[in-house]
Amino acid sequence: MGDMSDTTLPEARPFVFCHMMTSLDGKIMGRYMSSPGVAGAGKVFYDLAFGEDPYYRHQGWLSGRVTTDDNFTHYRAPVLDENAAPVPEGDFVAVSDAEKYYISIDASGRVGWESAVLTYQTTTAHVLEVLTGQASNAYKAFLRGLGISYVIGGDEEVDFALLLDKLKGLFGIDTLMLGGGGVLNWSFIQAGLCDELSVVIAPVADGSSDTPTLFETAGRTSDTPRGFSLQAAEAREGGSVWLRYTVDNGEN
Ligand SMILES: NC(=O)c1ccc[n+]([C@@H]2O[C@H](COP(=O)([O-])OP(=O)(O)OC[C@H]3O[C@@H](n4cnc5c(N)ncnc54)[C@H](OP(=O)(O)O)[C@@H]3O)[C@@H](O)[C@H]2O)c1
Repeated sequence: MGDMSDTTLPEARPFVFCHMMTSLDGKIMGRYMSSPGVAGAGKVFYDLAFGEDPYYRHQGWLSGRVTTDDNFTHYRAPVLDENAAPVPEGDFVAVSDAEKYYISIDASGRVGWESAVLTYQTTTAHVLEVLTGQASNAYKAFLRGLGISYVIGGDEEVDFALLLDKLKGLFGIDTLMLGGGGVLNWSFIQAGLCDELSVVIAPVADGSSDTPTLFETAGRTSDTPRGFSLQAAEAREGGSVWLRYTVDNGEN
């Protein structure tokens, strides 16, 4: 990992950093994404966390269900066998020593995976699903059939503190990237479980009122304000700016 001497590392759970690219107007998706002005920022974003000599060296990145469907699984329905034999209770560890995990928050078990391995540009990762007690036996059997690991993150809602303990204890994840979207990011910030924020701002905007921003409550979490302490601000390639903050957890 890069220089994090200015950050107090938690001991019992992974270090969590949220790493995102935004437009100048704070959007994380939308028409600005296809504008040529976003290319430099996109490369800076990728290289910082996934490049050959990254600033952040993490063992996994975490995404919300919409992000997974938008980028990887394209809203496919899972192929389920409703008559599958009952699977054992609890978590399923298919691979405990992957170099990288893609951790998919999918409380009710909806994502239509086709493989346990995912490719993101030059990065290959083992898929790890985060379910709750709401996920069906058929969905868990489906994941087992594909060799996809899963953890039960809670009964009805995902308990993110419990999830972080499991990611560290079962999969050896010491540094975790929180990778959006806005709903998931804000869930972690509100729970006080995100240590650092890294934002690469692209020099473009589209002014849309219909696209998500870096943080979204989406009626799921509270809008209690949070403060951030600036650690670094750098002008980077293609007119982008990289901002790095620690999260003022415990202070509003
Ligand atoms: N610019 C960037 O760097 C960047 C990075 C990542 C993503 N994105 C974009 O962001 C967009 C999606 O963002 P988004 O904010 O709409 O959605 P999101 O956070 O990706 O996904 C929201 C869904 O994730 C699950 N989820 C989130 N928080 C949860 C919680 N606290 N407990 C349980 N489940 C939770 C829920 O799934 P269920 O509905 O199944 O309950 C929720 O509907 C995508 O288009 C993606 O491409 C951009």
